[in-house]
Amino acid sequence: MKTRVLPISPASIQEACHILRQGDLVAFPTETVYGLGALGLLPSAVQKIFEAKGRPSTDPLILHMSSTDLAQARANGVISDPIPQESQLLAKTFWPGPLTLILPRGTKVPHEVTAGLETVAVRCPSHLGAQQLLAAIGAPLAAPSANRFGRISPTDASAVLQELDGKIPLILDGGSCLNGIESTVVSFPQNQPTILRPGVITAQAISQLLGNECRISCHTQPQGTPASSPGMLASHYAPRSPLYSCQEPIKTFLPNFQHILFFSSQESKPDHAHILSPNQRPEEAAQNLYRLLRIADAQSPQAILIDPIPPSDLAPALQDRIFRASTGSAIWQGGSWTLQARDKT
Ligand code: TXA
Ligand code: MG
Repeated sequence: MKTRVLPISPASIQEACHILRQGDLVAFPTETVYGLGALGLLPSAVQKIFEAKGRPSTDPLILHMSSTDLAQARANGVISDPIPQESQLLAKTFWPGPLTLILPRGTKVPHEVTAGLETVAVRCPSHLGAQQLLAAIGAPLAAPSANRFGRISPTDASAVLQELDGKIPLILDGGSCLNGIESTVVSFPQNQPTILRPGVITAQAISQLLGNECRISCHTQPQGTPASSPGMLASHYAPRSPLYSCQEPIKTFLPNFQHILFFSSQESKPDHAHILSPNQRPEEAAQNLYRLLRIADAQSPQAILIDPIPPSDLAPALQDRIFRASTGSAIWQGGSWTLQARDKT
């Protein structure tokens, strides 16, 4: 199959709708990462997502909607009662935007989307291209990140092409993703808002809005209880070369290695060093993380080393992605790095 890449335009959106209505797949930009979309209420179309990605069918998908209105989603059979009150406030405040809500599954949602769960993940993305596509198609789109299963999520159209060339008919090109990491996933066990996947909308922002502490519960948060999100495998978002997270900032560069620094005050850096955030802003680091991992990985180095992430509200999200992508940690000992593989469970 020939994969075409078209910039977002009225014509390419129409083309995308035509392909989607035939039950086929279209990759499209969102503010977080690129999604691999299919008609979310059509089981045979959803099935194709799992095939193209090589993703196990036990991993549930997010339904993307054009409207921020949860009442409308309920009327359309996407979600059902009881809809927690906190979720309504979260939707009102953060949608359209990088937030996914786990709510009771509506009657129209096929099991292929939820992997048999009685809850469904929903989100209203803010990217203009995504908005235009969702408005034009007039139905929810199921969309995981548009990468092969277990690989780095794509943050531009060329990364999608690298991942899925020949496997899908169309990629809508809407430029580089603003946020650069996947949406914050929030569920409501016993009406207690809980973050299953940290993202750019932070626990602090959610807690402040709700006046109620929002816990982070995923494998990479040591204080948390075990994750209840089936897709939250410890090994995820991984480059092909082994990635080691350094326990202290990188100061020397090794031949045959690639190095990802958080920040550097040095005027010049070698070609095999990359800077996550030239302006020392965690949002900028998130924006660049997957892109730089991809660039470093493309050199097929012996290993990739990445700096520690300085504390901030966004640090849990960045640390979560780095932990999942990494093989282990690097400890500076006696003038060199000792690489320590981690037990992955
Ligand atoms: O930013 C994003 O969320 C991107 C863009 C394309 O929207 N999408 C994305 O999808 O990251 P995906 O499939 O790569 O990740 C979906 C996450 C997984 O961690 C999955 O386990 C979780 O959402 N999830 C989906 N349905 C769930 C459910 N019913 N209960 C708990 N977790 C669920
Ligand atoms: Mg993904």
